[in-house]
Amino acid sequence: MDSTDMGTDLSKILITEEQIDSRLAEMASDIDRDYEGKEILVLGVLKGAVMVMADLVRKLHSPVTMDWMAVSSYGSGTKSSGVVRILKDLETDLQGRHVLIVEDIIDSGLTLSWLKSNLESRGPASVKIATLLRKPEAATVDIEVSYVGFDIPNEFVVGYGLDYDEKYRHLPFVGTLAPHVYGG
Ligand code: PRP
Repeated sequence: MDSTDMGTDLSKILITEEQIDSRLAEMASDIDRDYEGKEILVLGVLKGAVMVMADLVRKLHSPVTMDWMAVSSYGSGTKSSGVVRILKDLETDLQGRHVLIVEDIIDSGLTLSWLKSNLESRGPASVKIATLLRKPEAATVDIEVSYVGFDIPNEFVVGYGLDYDEKYRHLPFVGTLAPHVYGG
């Protein structure tokens, strides 16, 4: 899959495959340094974080276990509702664990803000957040993010895990969706 397969659905490629790869390598090296001597429970938030999880953990040298959660924050359309539901919970006991939440994107921040406090109530040694993308202009809650790949403008982006109507997740890059696709 490449940009030519997108026809007119794509306005532009925002972040290339190569840029993602080299930024994830930098993030992995920061994570290895910060967690030296510790085992990390890397927690992927389905479905968007599948790509970043797969690529980030393969760049880590720290001992790692992986688990997954699925949450839903979007009531309807493309805006966060702030109402978060757990669709699939962890299988790991968090007591005493160092948890690193991995996300594809932080938009309003509502999902992560809710998820972080939910996880903190389960007795972990620490909970930190890594995200490939963040939209500072869309933030409605203040949330501490330890590792950020790229701050991006408040545009509709797809690819590398991110979807529109469940499509485009398999693009190897992050692109801006043409407004005619979502009626913008
Ligand atoms: C996306 C993304 C985050 C959330 C961010 O997930 O993966 O979990 O939205 O939005 P927020 O900061 O405004 O809360 P989505 O609900 O689209 O599910 P998906 O990962 O399955 O695509």
